[in-house]
Amino acid sequence: MSGQHIRITPSILSADRENIVSEIAKIAEVSDLIHLDIMDNRFVPNQTWNLAEAQAIISASPTLIDAHLMVEDVDTLAIEYAIAGSGSVTIHAEAALDINKTLRGIRSHGARAGLAVKPGTPIENYLEFSDLVDMFLIMTVEPGFGGQKFMSEMMEKVRLTRKSIGDRPIWLQVDGGISIDTIAIAREAGADTFVAGSAVFNSPEPSVMVEMLRHRASAV
Ligand code: DX5
Ligand code: ZN
Repeated sequence: MSGQHIRITPSILSADRENIVSEIAKIAEVSDLIHLDIMDNRFVPNQTWNLAEAQAIISASPTLIDAHLMVEDVDTLAIEYAIAGSGSVTIHAEAALDINKTLRGIRSHGARAGLAVKPGTPIENYLEFSDLVDMFLIMTVEPGFGGQKFMSEMMEKVRLTRKSIGDRPIWLQVDGGISIDTIAIAREAGADTFVAGSAVFNSPEPSVMVEMLRHRASAV
C-alpha cells in the first residue's frame, strides 16, 4: 500500500502515572506525537488527568501532544487544550455541542483539529466536516480503558473514511487494541496514524515496540 505517511502516536494511558515525564522520555524520539487520553468519568466511566495536570504534561513533553478528549464539556475544554500548546486536539462527535465552531476554534489556536467517533457511531454523518478536520479518529474499542480487544468490525468504517478523504492530507487514526498483530489490519483498511497504549508500555523496551509497529505498518 502506498500514499500515506505512517505515524505512531503512543498512548501514555498505560504508562507509570507517577513518573509520566520519564515515561514520555522513553518513547519521545521515536514517536510522531504522544497520545494523551483525557477522561472525565462522565463521557466515559474512567478519569485520567485534569486540565492543570495535562497542561504540565503538554509543557514538559519534548514531542507534541495528541490530546484525545473523552469528556462531556468538550467544546470549551478543546480550546483550552489548543491554547496549552497541544499539537493536535481531538473531540468526540457524540460529545460536541457545536462541532463546526469547536473544530475552527482548535485550529485558530494553532493545533490540528481531530474528530472522533465511538464504535457505535457511524462516520457517514461526519465526513461533511472534512474541510475543518485535520484528523479523523475511528475508535477500535469502546473508549474508557486501555488493554481491550481490537474490534476488526470497525475496518469497514476505516475503509469508508479513507475512500472519502482519498489522498487529502487528513490523518486517519485508529485507537484501541493496536498491536503488532492488529496494526497491519488497520493499515490495510486505510489508517495511517496509530495509537498504541498497552502494546507499547507493557513491552520491556517501549521505544523498540514503537519502531516495530512502524515497521509492521509500513510493510503493508
Ligand atoms: C481508550 C483510549 C486509548 C487507549 C488505548 O479509551 O482512547 O487511547 O490508551 O490503549 P490500548 O492500545 O491498550 O488499547
Ligand atoms: Zn485515545
